Amino acid sequence: MSALPPGSRAPSLVQAARYLRDPLGFLPRHQERYGDVFTVRFPFFGRIVYVSSPELVKAVFTGSPDVFHAGEANATVLEPALGPNSVLTLDGEPHLRQRKLLLPPFHGDRIRRYGELMLEVTRREMESWPVGEPFSLRPSTQRITLSVILRAVFGIHDEARVERAGELIDSFSDRVTTITRYPFLRRDLGPGSPWRRFLAARRRLDELVYEEIALRRAEAESGEGDDVLSLLLRARHDDGSPMSDAELRDELLTVIGAGHETTATALAWAMERLLRNPQVLARLRDSIAAGEDDYLEATAKETLRLRPVILDVARKLTAPATIGGYELPAGSFVVPAIAGLHYRDDLFPQAREFRPERFLGGKVDNYAWIPFGGGIRRCVGAAFAEFEMRTILREIVSRADLHAPDPAPEKVKIRNITMTPQHGTRIVLERPLAPIA
Ligand code: HEM
Repeated sequence: MSALPPGSRAPSLVQAARYLRDPLGFLPRHQERYGDVFTVRFPFFGRIVYVSSPELVKAVFTGSPDVFHAGEANATVLEPALGPNSVLTLDGEPHLRQRKLLLPPFHGDRIRRYGELMLEVTRREMESWPVGEPFSLRPSTQRITLSVILRAVFGIHDEARVERAGELIDSFSDRVTTITRYPFLRRDLGPGSPWRRFLAARRRLDELVYEEIALRRAEAESGEGDDVLSLLLRARHDDGSPMSDAELRDELLTVIGAGHETTATALAWAMERLLRNPQVLARLRDSIAAGEDDYLEATAKETLRLRPVILDVARKLTAPATIGGYELPAGSFVVPAIAGLHYRDDLFPQAREFRPERFLGGKVDNYAWIPFGGGIRRCVGAAFAEFEMRTILREIVSRADLHAPDPAPEKVKIRNITMTPQHGTRIVLERPLAPIA
């Protein structure tokens, strides 16, 4: 078969508007209507072929990385922010080299060592929550995850510097949304234009990053420091060469960019769902009180299934490939439809319901549950993110009596490349926090 997979004939602008209006409904609707492989058209990005069954997702994730280029696909959106040396925007051998350097700090025992830090930062943030007044949780979880990543990655412990870095990163993130969504704005349209403001914010942040690199270089040579930056400074490529400052800058921004807003948003969604499913919340609270982690782990997984923070993981074909019987030309974007899979009732019975028990005790199918993507591009921080979610949720659920001022579910809003609750998960703390256990 050589025709393109089926899809809507609506103009690309209309398709994009539909996607933005209902990011979670869009792909499942296409999957139900057109099947496991379908075509969508968006302005600027052109034709995108989505796949929506575990078999096809497996074919994409395990396909040759030389043909299924994730870096090239990511670069169309992320390169202005992350640069050309980022593990997210590279392909082939250079990608694997960077990935190998980044993996160790985010695996195994090293992650657990961040547990104390995560708890300390969470406790401090929770102390600032007002009692009896509605507020948005997401900015709060974002302060926690940003503080954790800055301390874990840069090894910055000085409060004032953490705060300054936070401000620069916030202002940078705000400017990124516009230029990632509208590529035609990536040029100089004069003073005050989005591109100039983006460049100015990037320059300010880069100055701080290079300052930190210089500070840490001296310490790293003496073998001290177990933060990610110090580890990267000591790391060597296979040919014995160290990472250059430009490589380090891109990698640090990648880890910060990929690693804090995502987890903060996932936490906000977890509470958004928990407060609208009191029986799940009660069971979670009981299980935590009994010192068990299984239900907590399942709750984090179920949150990422029902509200996958990132909606698309793209690959760009460097050569023709056959997907689902369709022969796709080189240059095509092939994208596993995360929400399309996660909302399939045959894979996840009563898929629209929040039921953490579906993840209890069972093995997770890595081609059906894919909030972290897959294959050799699977999220480097997946274990770190799940551990952080568990640590922070445990503390919030066991110490805070919360309710949602508006019982209606929060709608979905796209921010940068993430899918966030429209009002950032509005909550009310009913009474002062319970003492620390
Ligand atoms: C809930 C939180 C998170 C979610 C939902 C998430 C999701 C993702 C997704 C979907 C990808 C693309 C995978 C693919 O193309 O197949 C990715 C890649 C990546 N993520 Fe995460 N992520 C999260 C947290 C983190 C954290 C905490 C870090 C770092 C500490 C991190 C670092 C990365 C990196 C470096 C990559 C690029 C991997 C590569 O291209 O080889 N992420 N993440």
